[in-house]
Amino acid sequence: MAAEVLAALNPQASGRYADGTLGGAGHAAQLLAASSPTGWLSGCDRDGVAVEIAKTRLAEKFAGRFEIRRGNFSELADWIPAGSCDGVLLDLGVSSPQLDHAERGFSFQNDGPLDMRMDNRQPQTATDLVNGESAENLAKIFWEFGDERDSRRFAKAIVHDRTARKFTTTKQLADLIERLAPRHGKKAHPATKVFQALRIAVNDEIGSLKRGLNGAVKILKPGGRLAVITFHSLEDRVVKEFGRERTRDYTFPGEVDIPTLRTPIAPELKWVSRKAILPGENELRENPRARSAQLRVMEKI
Ligand SMILES: C[S@@+](CC[C@H](N)C(=O)[O-])C[C@H]1O[C@@H](n2cnc3c(N)ncnc32)[C@H](O)[C@@H]1O
Repeated sequence: MAAEVLAALNPQASGRYADGTLGGAGHAAQLLAASSPTGWLSGCDRDGVAVEIAKTRLAEKFAGRFEIRRGNFSELADWIPAGSCDGVLLDLGVSSPQLDHAERGFSFQNDGPLDMRMDNRQPQTATDLVNGESAENLAKIFWEFGDERDSRRFAKAIVHDRTARKFTTTKQLADLIERLAPRHGKKAHPATKVFQALRIAVNDEIGSLKRGLNGAVKILKPGGRLAVITFHSLEDRVVKEFGRERTRDYTFPGEVDIPTLRTPIAPELKWVSRKAILPGENELRENPRARSAQLRVMEKI
């Protein structure tokens, strides 16, 4: 979604930008190139490998124009001054290197340790959840973060099997799910949703996103824009709900919006595109992983 992000953030030489999900620094490099010669980028990633790659890549062409820290984007407002940014980008989810390196434990297609931590300084791994959580909690994770209809059956089977042998590898878990729910010619691996759910739980992705959106609005200038790329409906729902709340020009008491009880307020944000922007056909041809990407853009008032 490179072209779409550039169109949304419209980088300028006088501008300051923040990228909370540097990854391989693809978007970051484009923001810096488009804001040459003096645009500034503050960036972070919670993955130490990504941070090193991003630093090296950006230093080649943009030395002296960026600051990179390792950390969660939920903490952007702790180190980037309030009201200082013209644009903030969050490109959520996992990166291709994280998925492709079996030892990171994100993929059911490559056998590796059941890890799934984006930040390997964090103590809790997917192995801890799978071997330590109750069947009830595992089912809740699979249902809430994966929309997995078979959440209870899968959770019970895991708890049963782990009494004989702890789960330590991605293949062990993927094989169990495949035994319980044979593919019958379906394209998607039956463990897709379970793996997504565990990854979201291990990395507290929804909590980080909610805190990150709040922080992003703090560091934006009036007129500055927030661009968020999501990869599944759960993330997109959080972004949509956040946008709905912050663009509303009234509040209401309690949980239910009763029109006669509304109090007018000045909204903090406006939608630049209320409808999600989807990747174009060319991008989908080149990068099939982009098929579930959606971009939403808001502007601080
Ligand atoms: C889809 S990739 C980003 C790709 C990047 N935009 C590029 O152009 O190469 C997502 C990245 O965000 C990072 N990430 C995900 N959640 C994060 C969070 N809460 N805080 C910081 N980094 C996060 C992941 O470690 C991963 O490297």
